[in-house]
Amino acid sequence: MILERWPAELGPVVCVVGARPNFMKMAPILRAFAAHRPAIPTILVHTGQHYDKDMNDRLFEDLRLPLPDINLGVGSGSHAVQTAEVMMRFEAVMDTHKPSCVLVVGDVNSTLACTLVAVKKGVSVAHVEAGLRSYDRGMPEEINRVLTDQIADRLYTTERSALQNLLREGIAEDRVCFVGNVMIDSLVFNREFARKPEETLGEAGVDASAFGLKQGYGVLTLHRPSNVDQANRLGPLLTVLREVSEKLPLVFALHPRTRANIERFKLGELVSTPRIVCLPPQGYLEMLGLMSKSRLVLTDSGGLQEETTALGIPCLTIRENTERPITVDQGTNTMVGSDRSAILKEVDDILAGGGKRGRIPEFWDGRAAERIADDLAKWLVTALVTARSG
Ligand code: UD1
Repeated sequence: MILERWPAELGPVVCVVGARPNFMKMAPILRAFAAHRPAIPTILVHTGQHYDKDMNDRLFEDLRLPLPDINLGVGSGSHAVQTAEVMMRFEAVMDTHKPSCVLVVGDVNSTLACTLVAVKKGVSVAHVEAGLRSYDRGMPEEINRVLTDQIADRLYTTERSALQNLLREGIAEDRVCFVGNVMIDSLVFNREFARKPEETLGEAGVDASAFGLKQGYGVLTLHRPSNVDQANRLGPLLTVLREVSEKLPLVFALHPRTRANIERFKLGELVSTPRIVCLPPQGYLEMLGLMSKSRLVLTDSGGLQEETTALGIPCLTIRENTERPITVDQGTNTMVGSDRSAILKEVDDILAGGGKRGRIPEFWDGRAAERIADDLAKWLVTALVTARSG
């Protein structure tokens, strides 16, 4: 685009983050918008959905994400309360700042809430990580994804299968742009700064050699409501994971939801073994370091499925479905559900043979955010020119 500076009639792009997985996606986008010529002006809005130091501040530091220009401070609540609070507080931001566009990422409640507000005010919305579908409407994120994609104007996808999902829902192809994966932009950018696992364990007061870090370990995370919100689900799962730990010691980074439920359901005994180290939510550079050196990752997180594929580390996903099929088809991911024998068998196979190596998917190359900046700037300027001539 041959433009000296950002057109005065185009307001800033309001970029929204709310919860932990949004931060890794937004950091490279803000860098790319600043580096674009002409620079794309932005306002960073944090809804405050996640607020703990471990879930929030530390990630901003690690990712070198600028402090938010505006923090809506909504905090926790039921889905209805949280979504409604974001909507009410975000409306005032729209009125004050008159953005040219709102950019949202991922599939959390803040993503949908801000999209709804912007679209109804006639402001266009760009959705990064569009078109992913688990086809499981019991997942709150699936509802957020489907609705956000229906009403957002510009849809940026991470893998080609996402376009087919969108077409099936009646979305016009010219709204969709395949750019690759911004989560992997963050990984590529930060890989050299990853923290050594022995330092991470040392800081948590764990003796790395007694734990057997050098002999190999696995990384475990769990936080999906379907896995952790019911005792009769979480209990059997932790029992299997304890069995896994007898084969391979595990570093368990505990989400606040999971920690609270382990206490509430009195399941602490299941994870109190020297073979499982329970840590608070980790920083980005700590997680990157822990995963990079691990034998395998056990998780129900979407982001970790992608990061392990990019790192070439086998991932066992403790879910029945994934909205990120490319991590299974091309990457290192295997779906194991919560089935005891499937989990134990896959762990044995990985320990014996090293597991799936996979390959890096198309456009997971560290440059997805640049593609978004180029496309969005062109798209907004073209819309402006059309409006002027109309
Ligand atoms: C949210 C996202 C999920 C994402 C996850 C990453 C939705 C619907 N879900 O789930 O897609 O994978 O973030 O972590 O948006 N809590 C704290 N401190 C915090 C944040 C939360 O203690 O900083 C506790 C609160 O008790 C809260 C609970 O965690 O009620 C759940 O938080 P919430 O934001 O509702 O959803 P997550 O489970 O974190």
